Amino acid sequence: MTVLRKENPNIADAAIGPKGRPAGRNGHGYACFAALSRVPYARSCLKNGDPMNADEIAAAKNEALSEAKAAGNAADLEQVRIKYLGRNGLLPKIMQGLKDVGPEERPLIGKLANEFKQEVQSAVDARRQELGSAGAASSASAFDFTIPGRWRPTGSLHPISMVIEESCRIFAGLGFTVADGPDIETAYNNFDALNTPPDHPSRDNQDTFWLESGELLRTQTSPVQIRVMEANKPPIRIVAPGRCYRRDTTSATHSANFHQIEGLYVDKQVSMADLKSDITYFARLMMGSEVKVRFRPHFFPFTEPSVEYDFSCHICKGKGCRICKQSGWIEISGAGMVDPRVFKIVGYDPEKVTGYAFGAGIERIAMIKYGVSDIRQLYDNDVRFLSQFA
Ligand code: DAH
Repeated sequence: MTVLRKENPNIADAAIGPKGRPAGRNGHGYACFAALSRVPYARSCLKNGDPMNADEIAAAKNEALSEAKAAGNAADLEQVRIKYLGRNGLLPKIMQGLKDVGPEERPLIGKLANEFKQEVQSAVDARRQELGSAGAASSASAFDFTIPGRWRPTGSLHPISMVIEESCRIFAGLGFTVADGPDIETAYNNFDALNTPPDHPSRDNQDTFWLESGELLRTQTSPVQIRVMEANKPPIRIVAPGRCYRRDTTSATHSANFHQIEGLYVDKQVSMADLKSDITYFARLMMGSEVKVRFRPHFFPFTEPSVEYDFSCHICKGKGCRICKQSGWIEISGAGMVDPRVFKIVGYDPEKVTGYAFGAGIERIAMIKYGVSDIRQLYDNDVRFLSQFA
């Protein structure tokens, strides 16, 4: 018996009946006894077929009204409504009990049941309104417009990607489209078709990554020229950005893996003047309108004549500084008029078409554009470094 009290403190006041169960009004157990003050027990009482009397209904109503008033939020209030008015709540039980009430008592119990329903419903509605307006008011005042927003880190383009995208955009403005080629190339596309003879030093094992298949990791983006010309008739106007590989020892200025953007323009009367003006246009849009471009004679097996071109140093504006090694110029890459031999190899008639080609080092441009002094920083993937360009 003591155990029972301990287990259920709600029945502490109950008289204890036989077999350790508290004695109820009609011997049904503690549930019915507790109905006077505790609604859950009143429900159990009704389950047992014992209708609630007027006092019990009044007590339950008072309890329901005070619980509705005390509900601290909409969810709690809804629990109160379900408990008393819901389909399995107390009210349907009271109504069910009506049939078991004596004929003299029934009108009174019916009236009390109706009052129970209306008053509890109104109390719930009133409390809901209070909570609603209070909630709205407090949420309005709780919103502090001066608190800074939550910062979410967003990704950004890598400087190499930015230069590639910008280069493609600039040349798109000149009518160029973007072409692509594989990183693993044939020796034919990378060398032979580009008029690079078998004894050329760039074909040496020390200079190129050869695969067992006899293919290689392309050393330049120039083989895309061959692929495009073999697959298309002139006129051609393409740029081809991509990765290149050479067996270079990594240093502040060299990397075994780097990027180039190739350009090729073939048509009936393409001249060196077109090459110079297009490269200069590109330089101005990429580096700023003050940049100067210088073309120097050079040699490449696949262009004749060939040039190397430099941009004036944008750091010192051509005066000479550490970045440009005091020369005032920064070498970008090579270019020239497509060699007639290359045209013959791809099946073009060099008597009918001429063309210019160029290659530009993407890292070189990124380094001078963004003031990066060590090429390795472009590959370290250090977010502290990269986020500066976001
Ligand atoms: N492919 C050359 C290199 O990697 C650069 C180059 C020079 C590309 C002249 C060209 C060109 O298209 O015409 O050094």
